[in-house]
Amino acid sequence: MACDRRTLLRASAVALALAAGPAFGQDAKSPIAVIGGGNIGGTIGGLWVKAGHPVMFASRHPEDLKPLVETLGPLAKAGTVEQALAFGEAVLIAVPYKAYPELGKTYAGLLKGKVVLDAGNATKARDGELAAEAESAGIGATSAKYLPGARLVRAFNAANYRLFAQNAHRSGAKMAVPIAGDDQQALAVAAALVRDAGFDPVVVGGLDAATKFQMGSPGFQRDATGPEARKAFGVAE
Ligand SMILES: NC(=O)c1ccc[n+]([C@@H]2O[C@H](COP(=O)([O-])OP(=O)(O)OC[C@H]3O[C@@H](n4cnc5c(N)ncnc54)[C@H](OP(=O)(O)O)[C@@H]3O)[C@@H](O)[C@H]2O)c1
Repeated sequence: MACDRRTLLRASAVALALAAGPAFGQDAKSPIAVIGGGNIGGTIGGLWVKAGHPVMFASRHPEDLKPLVETLGPLAKAGTVEQALAFGEAVLIAVPYKAYPELGKTYAGLLKGKVVLDAGNATKARDGELAAEAESAGIGATSAKYLPGARLVRAFNAANYRLFAQNAHRSGAKMAVPIAGDDQQALAVAAALVRDAGFDPVVVGGLDAATKFQMGSPGFQRDATGPEARKAFGVAE
């Protein structure tokens, strides 16, 4: 009960902070767990470090992440998945999709109730039958199935990491990052983290709407501006 109250209080504080204007973590510099320190995890996690967030990167071989965290400086740390999930108030999952079932099972307790930004894409060549499942059930529903209890938001799926690296904090209209989720508060946290990384978050809809920007869809691999993306997805400014 005490824990529920604390969670609620923290959630209210986040909602108030967002309503007041500054992005999530801009003042509090909330700690983030990045599970997977490869192309996409290293890129987006690095942008959060530059924005002032403490970030713990994790993989099955955290010692391999040493060069990444040394390059990023003292706000970046490497750890086990367990250590990172305990550290982060929000989580970015950036591992091959085929790892989701095991990850979700092993860390169910630590993922429960966490805001999780889900960057994973399922491809047939790498992820086998999971790609077929995601294709028929929808990528959002498939992630929710394998990461039960997490407050899931699909984010950073729709472009190659190089496109994110090149366009973060670009001058003029920011590059749009489509996001989708069923939990409004988690969406607000994810939107703020997208802003902190240097992009314009575009809420496309609930988890089922994540198919609109999955690999191979018209919403994939674009560096559209926010207004262009909102028009293309048919969502309000
Ligand atoms: N690359 C892109 O441009 C891009 C763009 C959007 C979305 N995505 C999606 O993001 C995900 C990651 O792609 P990526 O290109 O960044 O892959 P990557 O460069 O191969 O990096 C994957 C990372 O995940 C770790 N990892 C693998 N299995 C793990 C497990 N079971 N538990 C913990 N860590 C694990 C790897 O380290 P260890 O092997 O040492 O554990 C590595 O640090 C994929 O689902 C991909 O579809 C990628």
